[in-house]
Amino acid sequence: MQTQRLRIAIQKKGRLSKECQNLLKQCGVKFNLVGERLVVHAENMPIDLLLVRDDDIPGLIMDGVVDLGVIGENELEEVGLERSALGEPSEYQKLRRLDFGGCRLSIAIDKDETYSGPQDLQGKRIATTYPQLVKRYMDEQGVTFSPCMLNGSVEVAPRAGLADAICDLVSTGATLEANGLKEVEVILRSKAVLIQRNGEFSAEKQALIERLLTRMQGVIQAKE
Ligand code: PRP
Ligand code: ZN
Ligand code: MG
Repeated sequence: MQTQRLRIAIQKKGRLSKECQNLLKQCGVKFNLVGERLVVHAENMPIDLLLVRDDDIPGLIMDGVVDLGVIGENELEEVGLERSALGEPSEYQKLRRLDFGGCRLSIAIDKDETYSGPQDLQGKRIATTYPQLVKRYMDEQGVTFSPCMLNGSVEVAPRAGLADAICDLVSTGATLEANGLKEVEVILRSKAVLIQRNGEFSAEKQALIERLLTRMQGVIQAKE
């Protein structure tokens, strides 16, 4: 069900939410986030913001439920791989890479263990929220492993005896440090991206998207 208004999905709460809201404001979109509202109407443009969990954004775009979304490449690639493995729609268009949300997806092990390369992970159990990306990397390396799927507290898995290693997002490294882990392989470098659903857009929506992109270009360039 398509609406006249341009629907943009953004993360409700988390590492991308503040910067994403700021970017939209700097692009001239006026809105007021009140309480726990899921849909927020922009005051000065035909735009509706959908405030959702970041994990849901790739699927909302790939199913064509929303028009635009801002999401980390890590989440986008993971969901894309999972959906194509299941034969579900996984198409989208990347409109532009943004200048925030930088992080890396890395494998980490106990800081006191020795490490000389991916072959040291042979047969190990790896805790992660990104099993598809880990599998892609390990397949490339020709190393087999067992996954341990966790949606949170991944960094405590080795100490809790649930896994031998983890693969999780790292930005400052403080979480690894605090949990006695060391980063041994970077498997993906990620940033936030603006994505668009496939398919037709009305002339009005298309024009609005182009206007937003032009403004975004200006906002990002001004910061460089
Ligand atoms: C990620 C990751 C680590 C943390 C790493 O979590 O799972 O917990 O960030 O960042 P650092 O290197 O700066 O310590 P995120 O904030 O995305 O939240 P989540 O774990 O609840 O998804
Ligand atoms: Zn998430
Ligand atoms: Mg975390």
